[in-house]
Amino acid sequence: MARTTSKPWWADATIYEIYVRSFQDSDGDGIGDLRGVQQRLPYLQELGIQAIWLTPFFPSPNADFGYDVADYCDVAPEYGTLADWDALVADAQGRGIRILVDLVLNHSSDQHPWFIEARSSRSNPKRDWYVWKDGAPDGGPPTNWRSIFGGPSWTRDAASGQWYYHQFLPQQPDLNWHNAELRQAMYDVARFWLRRGASGFRLDATAHLFEDPAYPQDPHPDEEPYQVLKPWNTGRPENHDVLRELRAVVDEFPGQPVLLGESSTHTIDELRRVYGAHDDEIQLPMNFMFARHWKWDAPGFQHLIDEAQAALHDRTPVFFLSNHDHPRQWSAFGDGEHDDAIARLTAALVLLQRGTSLLYYGEEIGMADMAPAELAAAPLGPQRPVADNRDRCRTPMQWDDGTNAGFSSGMPWLPLPRDIGNRHVAAQQADPESLWTHYLYLLALKSTDPVFQHGEQLPLTTSPRDVLAFGRRLPSGQGAIVLLNFSAKALSVTVDGWPGLTPKSLPLQPHELRIVRVTA
Ligand code: NOJ
Ligand code: MG
Repeated sequence: MARTTSKPWWADATIYEIYVRSFQDSDGDGIGDLRGVQQRLPYLQELGIQAIWLTPFFPSPNADFGYDVADYCDVAPEYGTLADWDALVADAQGRGIRILVDLVLNHSSDQHPWFIEARSSRSNPKRDWYVWKDGAPDGGPPTNWRSIFGGPSWTRDAASGQWYYHQFLPQQPDLNWHNAELRQAMYDVARFWLRRGASGFRLDATAHLFEDPAYPQDPHPDEEPYQVLKPWNTGRPENHDVLRELRAVVDEFPGQPVLLGESSTHTIDELRRVYGAHDDEIQLPMNFMFARHWKWDAPGFQHLIDEAQAALHDRTPVFFLSNHDHPRQWSAFGDGEHDDAIARLTAALVLLQRGTSLLYYGEEIGMADMAPAELAAAPLGPQRPVADNRDRCRTPMQWDDGTNAGFSSGMPWLPLPRDIGNRHVAAQQADPESLWTHYLYLLALKSTDPVFQHGEQLPLTTSPRDVLAFGRRLPSGQGAIVLLNFSAKALSVTVDGWPGLTPKSLPLQPHELRIVRVTA
């Protein structure tokens, strides 16, 4: 893809993930909602992001907080109504903010009418919309596969005696993507939201749509699925057919709608394939190798970014460090002493590279994971029916120093940290030195400075390797060298690799981010 001003809106954009349940409550029930998101659009506009991704807000029994969808074409009462969605879209459009809807393709809720019908009898026309098999001769499950959430990935249906397959929870039966009617029904779901103003989709769990029809046994059932590739249910070649078809569906619509993929891959070659052999699948597959590099080491990140930029030089790489399933970057990388300085570097790592960046609500004010003991003490009840360890990174957005940090006038579904100090939007907006102001600056560079909007990325080498470096260069030769001192020490670094520039030594403060402009 030519890096010109005519590139699509999503290339090199910033997309801000909103965990709807936790962003802003408008009606005092302690649960964030669509009207709450609308109230905060001026904030998002000021921040300078181009799009928001809303986590699922559809009717759901909430076994997996909305990732178990009971109706793909409606809004759950706790999140609002379709009219609220329409109002949100219209308001966002007026502010130049696009909205991506979370499309859960791999599974529905076991309470979805499709599954209720499917399970009603072996001969029901919807039976084949899900994955059913007879048990093993010993009466056990058809295979020894483990679900990503633990336990067997098959559940026996007492009425029919058959087992249904679920890559995730038993309440999330896998849909059968071999079935042509199911495919069309799901594509119609996509059309429904595109007609109603969505600018595309974040696609959930795209690697898992198909299973190997031979259903082999897993020789290593104790190995975690996210650590070791399980080729019988992950990254099957048939996935590409569906993603191509889905891409054709979004391409029916004007406005360059985009597919942002939760395309969890283990290697850069796998990731490159997710874009499609002819760039006809997912435009924005997320780079999970980068997001799962939990170690704060410059050479490790240097390798991952150089590898991604080289392999995807003609495509748009997608970088992020936090989301609703991951430890927040503040907590993952903070050393307890220099957390704020490290957070500024992680922001630069995601925002200054060539590519599309994903931010997770609250990272711009340094929100941290909830401590395990606090999470353990958090109440379960109607608003939080299940305990989920991932709730540590899903606490309510911290807006100000008022009641519940401005999130809700009622009791929040998850508690806020006991002491948020100045880690709230109001305090940081008033402080020119805050992390929030730093994000504002980096976002402005990314969206308005030609070097960071359009510059190609140049790999650079450093000595010592505690400093991560890359260049951004325009065809004119003008550009910038970005230096990130990962260490808590002041040091002198030598940078090499910018054509025509003699390496020279530069002093850096501990954890300094330095942008050195290069003139043509
Ligand atoms: C990925 C989602 O991000 C996660 O929250 C969810 O639990 C699984 N997919 C299953 O839908
Ligand atoms: Mg509410």
